[in-house]
Amino acid sequence: MPLRSAAGAPVVPASAAPVFAPGRAAAEEVPRPVPGSDNLPGIVKPLPAEWFVRRDSNAEMRWDALRDADGKAAVGRHVPVERFFVRNHTSTPLIDPVGWRLRLFGSGLHGAPPPERALGFGLDDLRALPATRIDALIECAGNGRSYFDRQQGERAPGTPWTLGSIGSASWRGVRLAEVLRAAGLTDRAVDVLPTGLDPDYVVDGTNYGPVRRPLPIAKALDDALLAYEMNGAPLTPDHGAPVRLVVPGWVGIASIKWVGSIEVADHPLHSPWNTDFYRMFGPGHPPGGGPALTTQVVKSAFELAEGARLTAGREHRLHGRSWSGTAPVRLVEVSTDGGRSWRRAELAEEPRAAGWTRWSVDWRPERPGRYELRARATDRGGATQPEWAAFNREGYLFGAVVAHPVTVL
Ligand code: MTE
Repeated sequence: MPLRSAAGAPVVPASAAPVFAPGRAAAEEVPRPVPGSDNLPGIVKPLPAEWFVRRDSNAEMRWDALRDADGKAAVGRHVPVERFFVRNHTSTPLIDPVGWRLRLFGSGLHGAPPPERALGFGLDDLRALPATRIDALIECAGNGRSYFDRQQGERAPGTPWTLGSIGSASWRGVRLAEVLRAAGLTDRAVDVLPTGLDPDYVVDGTNYGPVRRPLPIAKALDDALLAYEMNGAPLTPDHGAPVRLVVPGWVGIASIKWVGSIEVADHPLHSPWNTDFYRMFGPGHPPGGGPALTTQVVKSAFELAEGARLTAGREHRLHGRSWSGTAPVRLVEVSTDGGRSWRRAELAEEPRAAGWTRWSVDWRPERPGRYELRARATDRGGATQPEWAAFNREGYLFGAVVAHPVTVL
């Protein structure tokens, strides 16, 4: 029987392994779809077909949904929560924010936690710490995976995302650095390991445990945020309520949702998410896999349906967005002839490292036929989109230029 605090939360010694009682109990309440609704088992919010493509336990954002039928912008810099893509290894847990506590423990913290922190941090404790607001993209490491097959003839198993496992949002919360220091961070800390309260990830009879992924202390102290708000409102269940991590510029798996505990260690930490998954495996990569993935690569997408039909002899304004995990975008070039010629797109805003840059270009196709659009971005660090992406068995980080077919009638 775990001890219980006055609020009913179990009392966990700071050095003990995490105990998930309140969150796990709630996590077993897997949301069921409402009959006749647009839900998917495991995801709470409706997923209308005009905004999302369903992919197993996940929902991909449709890029063409960023424009109305008349070509007007339907989504600004940030993607509204109801349109934001969802990537769930299992299913969205429903967590009672009142009983929820974030427990920190491990050899990277001072032995005994300060008495007021012995129970960990409740939501009110986090809200009492200085709040920070940041813009950041969340992007799955496998975004664009299907193009390994479609463009390069090399199939990678896994969710066949096109380019819609990405979203931009404004996040408000407390810097992870602030919480680590309040918990008694030592200068011996090397890694932190946030663990989600969603159900265990089980594949082909192997139970990998709860979703968790080590984060090096340097990134944890730099700009990682424990977010409790998304686009100005409390987090919703599908996006990590009550609290998630947001790790700007890094592959989406770093941004652990529904955080229940954080181990802070004076030695490197491992979980399947930095050993078995989220490394480059296969020919051309080291036998045990390359280093654990960190930053995202440069990518671009058109706000246009694949196979869109456009009228010949008319001026069209093509819109899109480009982004990079490491630097602001410097230049976007567009080709309307399958990559033979390129011209500069007009940037709609001052590029920033923390988000995507919107752009547009005019195009007047005179003759009917099939055309192939391409967009290629270069960031201020000099990283650009190649013609070919290095294959890896899991299909991560497809950063090559994507061919976007359209038909002119
Ligand atoms: N955190 C937990 N606990 N469980 C998950 O399945 N998925 C990760 C990350 N955090 C995941 C998680 C992945 S792979 C991505 S891309 C992002 O959450 C997706 O965040 P979103 O669903 O809010 O878009």
